[in-house]
Amino acid sequence: MKIKNILQSTLPQPLLEQFYELKYLGLPMPFRAVRPHTMLSNVNLFFLQELATRVENAGVPGDFVECGVYRGGSAGVLAYEAMRSKWQRRLWLYDSFAGMPAASDLDDAYSKSIEGQFVGSEAQTRRILQRLKIPNDRFQILVGLIEDTLPQSQKFPIALLHIDCDFYNPVKMVLETFYDRVSPGGYVVLNDYGSFQGCRAATDEFIEVRGLDRQINLIQIDRDAYFFQTPVAETDRAGENGN
Ligand SMILES: C[S@@+](CC[C@H](N)C(=O)[O-])C[C@H]1O[C@@H](n2cnc3c(N)ncnc32)[C@H](O)[C@@H]1O
Repeated sequence: MKIKNILQSTLPQPLLEQFYELKYLGLPMPFRAVRPHTMLSNVNLFFLQELATRVENAGVPGDFVECGVYRGGSAGVLAYEAMRSKWQRRLWLYDSFAGMPAASDLDDAYSKSIEGQFVGSEAQTRRILQRLKIPNDRFQILVGLIEDTLPQSQKFPIALLHIDCDFYNPVKMVLETFYDRVSPGGYVVLNDYGSFQGCRAATDEFIEVRGLDRQINLIQIDRDAYFFQTPVAETDRAGENGN
């Protein structure tokens, strides 16, 4: 058993937090608070903050959305940036917190092998957000299968959409539900495009069906994650360049 798992299963929560406090002392907030509770690489975490900063500086309207929360690690980074936003952005979090669902035929063998794993925690997510002093009115946690919760979601504009639910069916549904609400110049992060066949297939299919291949540029962040910016009208681009 890894030392991390031994500590997590034996130490009471306050002691565990103190241990992590020392271990990650060198990291700035919000990374120090989220590092022990996320599956994302540091590069990917820093890049999420970078994209949140870009939409902030460019004044791209909309909230932040994350589908695939697990223990609230990447959610903490997004919530921290939503809290600091002068546009009063909110963060919407979607997860069943019940582990990975059944993989489909379009998912790979690895996906099938992790069905039921990565059981997240709404309580841990709330603890991270509390630790980062995120006001309650700046985030919403929508618990349940994405297939059930997304059809009922409110129709708010989105500046940054973080898709981290790995498998074909949920990724497809997230893109179909939320893509049209992402403001021009906003960002879509596909956390698993590089490592999960289902996520890649759902994304490629969506791009093809919507005829987006000439309008967007999929850019790699790390081994797992890719992102793209949603198309901006030519007139807006001319303004940006000072033409
Ligand atoms: C890789 S983890 C997310 C990692 C997280 N963003 C982090 O910072 O570590 C994937 C999450 O997606 C959730 N998930 C996958 N498919 C889902 C579905 N159909 N409905 C709801 N949640 C789902 C799982 O419960 C799991 O918590």
